[in-house]
Amino acid sequence: MTDRLTIRRPDDWHVHLRDGAMLDHVAQYTARQFARAIIMPNLSPPVTTAEEGAAYRDRINAAVPAGLDFTPLIVAYLTDHSSPDEMARGHDEGIFTAAKLYPAHATTGSAHGVTDVAKIMPVLERMADIGMPLLIHGEVTDHDVDIFDREAVFIERTLKGLVRDLPGLRIVFEHITTSEAVDFVTAAPANVAATITPQHLHINRNAMLVGGIRPHAYCLPVAKREQHRLAVRAAAVSGSPKFFLGTDSAPHAVHTKEAACGCAGIFNAPYALESYIQVFDEEGVLDRFEGFASEHGPNFYGLPLNTGTVTLERGETLVPERVGEVVPFHAGETLGWRLAS
Ligand code: DOR
Ligand code: ZN
Repeated sequence: MTDRLTIRRPDDWHVHLRDGAMLDHVAQYTARQFARAIIMPNLSPPVTTAEEGAAYRDRINAAVPAGLDFTPLIVAYLTDHSSPDEMARGHDEGIFTAAKLYPAHATTGSAHGVTDVAKIMPVLERMADIGMPLLIHGEVTDHDVDIFDREAVFIERTLKGLVRDLPGLRIVFEHITTSEAVDFVTAAPANVAATITPQHLHINRNAMLVGGIRPHAYCLPVAKREQHRLAVRAAAVSGSPKFFLGTDSAPHAVHTKEAACGCAGIFNAPYALESYIQVFDEEGVLDRFEGFASEHGPNFYGLPLNTGTVTLERGETLVPERVGEVVPFHAGETLGWRLAS
């Protein structure tokens, strides 16, 4: 039995670091585990211009504790009014690594999102030309579509057309939760990939709803039936270069989750690697963990692999009930792996 695993330093290809006091609180958890991270731009107001992106990058760097080697990769937030020139300028200047498509009102901080992808086709065409990846929150927002079906319907109504019409555009289907998404990404050409969160590997919708309503298991896209969790898990551990680590760590203060209308988002940053490696261990494929955590993402983005390593070892990690004002994923549980110091 493998009791210690040393891998190339990993990256988080999808995280919410927020701003202000929350940024100051949470940046350390991501920076301690990951060399780089794709930072989601759904601030209030969102990060839409190169200047805003550069300023946000500087605030993140200031929030990372001294001595940690961490690079935030900044993402532009697409709106109906995004301009091809602004995206290209931000990318040329090395400020924007990618741009994020939030369908308007799909999730937290998406009120300024895109109401119809037809409106941003010129932006997407320019992104394809300059090699700037598109990151997608893949859920429709139509009121007549059941919340558990919104990802699968997005594939049919929007994603298939984008992939067909923009063959040169690198697309990351973020935080996939369904067998339909796994099948779509698997069958798509090599310019289409997906990130997978820890929560969608560990929990199905029962975790949210059985024995009482559990707001800390609520995120968007919402966890689905067990058959979908198993499909997402199989994709993550498959060794396919199309699937890679993206935590979607999304902290919300406890009182905003434990409320009559609680916010979507699961804060998994503090124990993300311990959570992911447990899945690869349970599936008997620890040898595939490095690809998922440290290689598939940079290869897809066309970025260099990290140098340096991290070591995980078998051993108990007790996850606390609170990390500051935020309840972490796995609160109160004991995980079977820990980061070796
Ligand atoms: O659960 C989520 N929380 N899903 C998202 O897409 C956004 C995120 C957030 O920013 O809180
Ligand atoms: Zn997210």
